[in-house]
Amino acid sequence: MQIEIKNLNKSFGDHHVLRNISLTIENSHALVIVGPSGGGKTTLLRLIAGLEPFDSGYLNVNGHVLDTEEEHLRQYRKHVGMVFQAYNLFPHLTALENITLPLQKVHGQEPEVARETAMRLLERFQLEPHVHKKPAQLSGGQQQRIALSRAIAIAPEFLILDEPTSALDPEFTAEVLDMIEELREEDKHLILVTHEMGFARHVSDYVLFIDEGIIIESGPPKVVFENPQHDKVKKFFDRVLKY
Ligand SMILES: Nc1ncnc2c1ncn2[C@@H]1O[C@H](COP(=O)(O)OP(=O)(O)O)[C@@H](O)[C@H]1O
Ligand SMILES: [Mg+2]
Repeated sequence: MQIEIKNLNKSFGDHHVLRNISLTIENSHALVIVGPSGGGKTTLLRLIAGLEPFDSGYLNVNGHVLDTEEEHLRQYRKHVGMVFQAYNLFPHLTALENITLPLQKVHGQEPEVARETAMRLLERFQLEPHVHKKPAQLSGGQQQRIALSRAIAIAPEFLILDEPTSALDPEFTAEVLDMIEELREEDKHLILVTHEMGFARHVSDYVLFIDEGIIIESGPPKVVFENPQHDKVKKFFDRVLKY
C-alpha cells in the first residue's frame, strides 16, 4: 500500500480539523494511526476511504489520485473495505444478506456467486451457525467479524478499520483482533485506528501519531512506541499504558 499526502486540509465549519498534513508512505502493509480523541484520526481515515471530500491538497492512495467529486469517490470506494466502531451491519438483514447485498448491488455479482463468496467467508470464520440471524441476535464480536467478512468479500485493495473493537465488551475484543491478525498474516493491507496499543505495536509496520490535526510522529512501531521524539507522544503512551 502506498500513500502520498500533500498539504491536505479539512475543516468542518470554522473548525480546522486536518491542518496541512503531508506524508509519504512507500510500502506499508499495516499502517496504524494512534493519538488522543478528537485529534483527527477518523477524519483522515474518512478522506483516505473516499467517504468525505477534502478541502484542499493532494491525496494519492495506491495510485488513485482522489478527486473531491462524488461520482469519482463512489467509484474509488469500490476498491476499499471498511469497518467502523459499531453499527456496521444493516439491522434488518441477516448476516448472509449483509454480505451478499453489497456484492450484488454495488459490485454487480450474480446472486449465486455472491452467496458462494459469503458462505465461504462465513464458514472460514466459524460464523455459519449465524448466517440467518439478524445483527440484534448476535454478540458484538460476531457482528464485527461479519462486518470484517463483508469488508474482505469485495476483494478490496486494502481495509480501513476505525476502532473496530472499542464498542465491544472486553470478552469479545480478542476474537476480533485475532481475525484482524489473521488477515494481516495473509497479507491483506490494513489501515487501522485503535486504542489497543499492544495490538497496534504488534500488527503495524508503520505508525502515525496524530494530535490536533497534525502528524506529530511517524515511523516504524519500534521507533514510535519505544523512542518517541515528542513529549506529547511520550506522555500519551505513559497515560494509556499506565494501568
Ligand atoms: N462531521 C463533523 N462535523 C463537525 N465536526 C466534526 C465532524 N467530524 C469530526 N469533527 C470534529 O473534528 C475533530 C476531529 O474528529 P475525529 O476525526 O473524529 O477525531 P478522532 O477520530 O481522532 O477522535 C473533532 O473535534 C470532531 O468534533
Ligand atoms: Mg475517531
